[in-house]
Amino acid sequence: MIEIRGLTKVFGEHRVLDGISVDIREGELFSVIGPSGMGKSTFIRCLMRLLKPDAGSVKVDGQEMASVTSEFTLAKIRRSFGYLFQEGALFDSLTVFENVSFGLKYLTDIPKSEYPRIVREKLALVGLKDVEELKPAELSVGMKKRVALARSIAVEPKYILYDEPTTGLDPVTTGMVKDLITDMRKKLGVTSVVVTHDMNLALEISSRVAMLNNGKFVEVCEPACFRRSDNPEVREFMRISHISKE
Ligand SMILES: Nc1ncnc2c1ncn2[C@@H]1O[C@H](COP(=O)(O)OP(=O)(O)OP(=O)(O)O)[C@@H](O)[C@H]1O
Ligand SMILES: [Mg+2]
Repeated sequence: MIEIRGLTKVFGEHRVLDGISVDIREGELFSVIGPSGMGKSTFIRCLMRLLKPDAGSVKVDGQEMASVTSEFTLAKIRRSFGYLFQEGALFDSLTVFENVSFGLKYLTDIPKSEYPRIVREKLALVGLKDVEELKPAELSVGMKKRVALARSIAVEPKYILYDEPTTGLDPVTTGMVKDLITDMRKKLGVTSVVVTHDMNLALEISSRVAMLNNGKFVEVCEPACFRRSDNPEVREFMRISHISKE
């Protein structure tokens, strides 16, 4: 479980996260929705301490992240996270095989002889095969997302953080990525946090949806309840997403 209390992040004068408190429960698929620039990526990056919060507490499986001073312990906790970057961020000079096995090499002591089996298995999970020797430049955008996802699940994380997993994808590929996220939860039992400005995606796949606005979660509830929300910011976001109140 990830317990977040009073999470605050300030850039200059800008209080991007202003005291957020929420528990992300085991096995849930928690989405954070909000307009561009509202701090969604900042939120997700604070969870695994890629960014240091200015105040508040983030506890991962009971461990307070702020009190971890050793790089070793931090690396160990980070291992429990898979992170799908907003920009995809594959290493262009590395092959698919090298990309997917990257975390195995740096975060685990799994013997090298096991890599081919693990890479094949993870690629199969995202619906790819026989692409190990290709370079990112030879892949379509959707394939790159899948490879990035295979890389983030290679070390079998307990949590997967997805930053805008469907942005820039066509509707067919969006559907595939959506199924993948749902599958990862079903097949691997991972706890997932998705940040997105795609309201349809959030409502469709999540166990709970949170709306981030001006540094706060103005609504946190299940999709059905979220659709009926009377919160003005939620309603406005629904309106521009062409989703009507049921
Ligand atoms: N390292 C940084 N230094 C200074 N300001 C930053 C930094 N990272 C983010 N910000 C600012 O914080 C705010 C929130 O950024 P963030 O990337 O978290 O938004 P977002 O909700 O993910 O947006 P998008 O939907 O466009 O991805 C923005 O105003 C951004 O300029
Ligand atoms: Mg972002």
